[in-house]
Amino acid sequence: MPFPVELLFLCWSVTVLYILVRFNKTRRSLPPGPLSLPYIGNLRYLISRPNWFTYTEWYQKYDSDIVHVNIAGSSYIILNSLEAATELLERRSGIYSSRWGIHLRYAGRYKWSFVLMPYGPEWKAQRKLCTNMFNPNNPDEHESRELKATRIFLLKLHKSPNDLFQHLLDMAGSTILSIVYGFDVAAVQHSLHTVNAEEGAQGFLQASILGNFLVDDVPWLRYVPSWFPGASFQAQAQFWRKYMEKILHGPFDEMKNHFVSERNISGLESCFISQCLGKASGECDDEMFIKSVAASLYLGGTDTTVTTLKSFFLAMIQYPECQKKAQQELDCIIGRNRLPDFADRDTLPYIEAILHETMRRARILTQNGLPHLVSEEDVYNGYRIPKNSIVITNMWAMMRDERNFKDPFTFNPDRYIRPADGQLDLDLLKRATAGFGFGRRICPGKHMALSAMWIAIASILSVFEISKAVDENGQVIEPSMKFKSTLQAPSQGHRVGIKKSVE
Ligand code: HEM
Repeated sequence: MPFPVELLFLCWSVTVLYILVRFNKTRRSLPPGPLSLPYIGNLRYLISRPNWFTYTEWYQKYDSDIVHVNIAGSSYIILNSLEAATELLERRSGIYSSRWGIHLRYAGRYKWSFVLMPYGPEWKAQRKLCTNMFNPNNPDEHESRELKATRIFLLKLHKSPNDLFQHLLDMAGSTILSIVYGFDVAAVQHSLHTVNAEEGAQGFLQASILGNFLVDDVPWLRYVPSWFPGASFQAQAQFWRKYMEKILHGPFDEMKNHFVSERNISGLESCFISQCLGKASGECDDEMFIKSVAASLYLGGTDTTVTTLKSFFLAMIQYPECQKKAQQELDCIIGRNRLPDFADRDTLPYIEAILHETMRRARILTQNGLPHLVSEEDVYNGYRIPKNSIVITNMWAMMRDERNFKDPFTFNPDRYIRPADGQLDLDLLKRATAGFGFGRRICPGKHMALSAMWIAIASILSVFEISKAVDENGQVIEPSMKFKSTLQAPSQGHRVGIKKSVE
């Protein structure tokens, strides 16, 4: 039987189309980036200096909001503008929501935590569990605990101002221990669990820095013993492992011993765990499942909040005029006879502006975010983004982008207040909180963190004067402005002076 001409034509067209598509794909170039050396790629650029400076130099040099870097054969895509991050991580989040960090996940025992989990059913199930608890329309779930923790913090700071950083850690730790595990805020001040969460978070922070964990790019390195020169990543993973075990089991087991016998959850304050146990169906029946989500929340929510509040104190030292202006607003709206609470939030725009300006400048996860992994090849602005590329958000550049934030190196809360009507510029506020991440991986604790920090900032400014510390000889101590090259980079040590301004 003769072969129909139409069929022949169809086969020919499909073949030509296939060749064209393939040819086109491979012809597309990668985004611009530094020339890479054989084997190590661009690793040499990233050693011994804060990554975000290097990223920003590349951004300027290649005049591109997307830069490609090769680290030992792996493709890294650095996003330098909010527009690029929104387009890829939000609008195309279906393929930009996975994670990497394999060594840490296995050797460091971070596998149970959805923070580092690849995108997929397990991550979705864990993430879904926290949606309700941290829903911004449901603030009652957390605000009362935040208020209580803040009031305790004020008392402690009044008693021993030199222990400011410890008090901050106690406040953030007790708030989240209470919201997640149902502990009474007052009973879990100075908790050992908080220290574990702080140490455990270091694993994420260190491993998320480009070039820090080469073993993720060169998998055979995982067989190198820890005593071998340069294999410190093995010892580090072992070190974090012990904290991860404690975070996973410690608070949960303690809570269980205290409150829960069998499935009797009465006596347990309403909290994330009690809600999950209350549901007691499907995945929620699985104790390990609930425990893992709870520990991820605790891990993600302690250190981040503390570091942001440290940045707030630093800003108040550097910009005393902003502190004064905020205190005038508080005096005028609230007076000196009571402390602020959440009902005052809408009436204090300048405090809201201080919170957002602190977020914009804070050197925490907000410098580089947590990397996302691309699960399919993609094209952006004509550039090819290979499958399995690791995407890093250069928050440092985004938060200092003149197009969004005029005079970006100055701490200026007024930028969020529209001169025309004195109202907050909601669009700019939103851009300043991009440090909570993007798309499906956006920080689930964002609204809780913002409200906890808001009440802390409003209350501190109502009661205390913040200034530079003075030493034993009465000399003013200038705050150190050196920042560590980690994802979470508080100044390497700033002391502040705290003076009570009201009784
Ligand atoms: C100032 C405070 C905080 C900052 C700056 C912050 C920032 C971030 C960032 C940048 C990410 C990665 C987002 C992405 O991949 O695009 C993240 C993820 C996460 N955060 Fe936060 N966070 C804060 C507070 C909190 C709090 C209070 C909690 C818990 C209640 C929390 C729990 C988590 C968890 C569990 C993840 C992993 C989400 C996932 O991978 O699906 N964070 N956070």
